[in-house]
Amino acid sequence: MAAVTRYSGKVVVVTGGSRGIGAAIVRAFVDSGAQVVFCDKDEAGGRALEQELSGTVFIPGDVTQERDLQTLVSETLSRFGHLDCVVNNAGYHPPAQLPEETSAQGFRQLLEVNLLGTYTLIKLALPHLRKSRGNIINISSLVGAIGQSQALTYVATKHLPRKHLDSTVGRACSLNFRPQGHHSRRHLGPASAPTP
Ligand SMILES: NC(=O)c1ccc[n+]([C@@H]2O[C@H](COP(=O)([O-])OP(=O)(O)OC[C@H]3O[C@@H](n4cnc5c(N)ncnc54)[C@H](O)[C@@H]3O)[C@@H](O)[C@H]2O)c1
Repeated sequence: MAAVTRYSGKVVVVTGGSRGIGAAIVRAFVDSGAQVVFCDKDEAGGRALEQELSGTVFIPGDVTQERDLQTLVSETLSRFGHLDCVVNNAGYHPPAQLPEETSAQGFRQLLEVNLLGTYTLIKLALPHLRKSRGNIINISSLVGAIGQSQALTYVATKHLPRKHLDSTVGRACSLNFRPQGHHSRRHLGPASAPTP
């Protein structure tokens, strides 16, 4: 079967790409002809995937650290010269908890990864996505739309990118981008995937 090259020449950044849904996204873009630069806190997993898949570059990093995301974007630009798409995938679902069992500290940590990491990468990538008329894909969750019992904090972190970022950052992007032909922003909401 002929190789699919829909994204030939395109450069895509994926967060949390070492395993699970993020690794599947990295594979899918490589299969479609893209160059993929991905980051993850899991360095061993990231290096293994980078070795397995030509067309990928792994850059160790934590999405809660703005400096790591700056390195991710600047390394991508110095290697490839442009950026066409960012996929905000890094995130986690804490164990099931009753609302009264949750803690502000746990909620803060979850917000740092699931929400602020997404915000920070969007902010850093926007100037380059404007130039390329690129895309933003945020991996939200079905439960961000419909809710989930014993997941008060997680649902909030997955609801906000859909609603808040869409209605504020998203609208700002559209206003700035549409005249320049910016393509789109997307929130994908997986249901349940048995990732490790
Ligand atoms: N698996 C599901 O059923 C499901 C459903 C809906 C949404 N999601 C969302 O999809 C995304 C991926 O989920 P998954 O199931 O593949 O998870 P996973 O735990 O299998 O993989 C997540 C990856 O992100 C990395 N990561 C976590 N925190 C990070 C950080 N601070 N900086 C950099 N990398 C970090 C991890 O090391 C890991 O490689 C998450 O945002 C999750 O909320 C998953």
